[in-house]
Amino acid sequence: MTINLTPEQLEIVQGLMQTPAAVSPKYFYDAKGSALFEDITRLPEYYPTRTEQAIMSEHAPAIAQAIGTHCTVIELGAGNCQKARALCELIQPIGYVAVDISEAFLQDAVAGMRLAFPNLAIHALAVDLTASVELPASLPTQRRLVFYPGSSIGNFDPPQAQALLSRMRALLQDDGALLIGVDLVKDSAVLHAAYDDAAGITADFNLNVLNHLNRLIGSDFDVTQWQHLAFFNAEQSRIEMHLQARVDLVVRWPGASRAFARGERIHTENSYKYRVEDFVEMLRRSGLPHTQVWTDAKRWFAVVLARP
Ligand code: AVI
Repeated sequence: MTINLTPEQLEIVQGLMQTPAAVSPKYFYDAKGSALFEDITRLPEYYPTRTEQAIMSEHAPAIAQAIGTHCTVIELGAGNCQKARALCELIQPIGYVAVDISEAFLQDAVAGMRLAFPNLAIHALAVDLTASVELPASLPTQRRLVFYPGSSIGNFDPPQAQALLSRMRALLQDDGALLIGVDLVKDSAVLHAAYDDAAGITADFNLNVLNHLNRLIGSDFDVTQWQHLAFFNAEQSRIEMHLQARVDLVVRWPGASRAFARGERIHTENSYKYRVEDFVEMLRRSGLPHTQVWTDAKRWFAVVLARP
């Protein structure tokens, strides 16, 4: 029997068949995963969202002045558009483009933005950032601000992150800028707690990827057979998330199957933590050498404005 797989299904199956098995973190974000991620951002242990917000509020006048007026904001990974609301109130742009992988979530969020900013030209683009982003032809080419908050850049391995930053640079003319949030290296106990919270929301978020895979490739993952695992890999400067088999098991999907021994893992996410100077160097290598950096008092998180 021949099974025709879509490119997405092929990518997932190849990841599951490799040793160790791996799944791209982009598959976390079905409707339930996106909602769980929103819950994560409100957890007491998950400091990145609130620390980034605090930096943006504390330094709002300086950030607004550095960005300037009349720009078109292109937000990558827009999610619920909450960060864009605060930014749009601050800098009064002329246009806003929300780019996100989760179509259903995006449409609701953009509808809310249209109500809040009736005079703003708003577009929604449901695309995967790892592919190239085709912006609407009507979009002004001048004074573009690519906005990539939340340290999502940390979910890419450094070569992919560098390539993504270079693609962001390509979306800007010479008068554009990138405003990006980046999570910084810190005490590993703080990092562990942020990715293995007491209420188990991050565990639910990690495990939910299996339900999503069941729908995408027709597999029969049983979530109760898997356990959430998160730890800081200091050598690679990254939090790693895995799903670990609680028992010997077999997962089947049309055309194939894979056995997992008890304790075997599926690697689901990396979240890199940077030193400011290393991140600034990565921006320079991506064609964005002029940077302004704002951080919180503990230096847990940085907001960077980078220009060509
Ligand atoms: C979206 N991204 C920046 C989050 C992070 O912190 O790496 C995803 C996440 N994974 C577990 N908790 C949050």
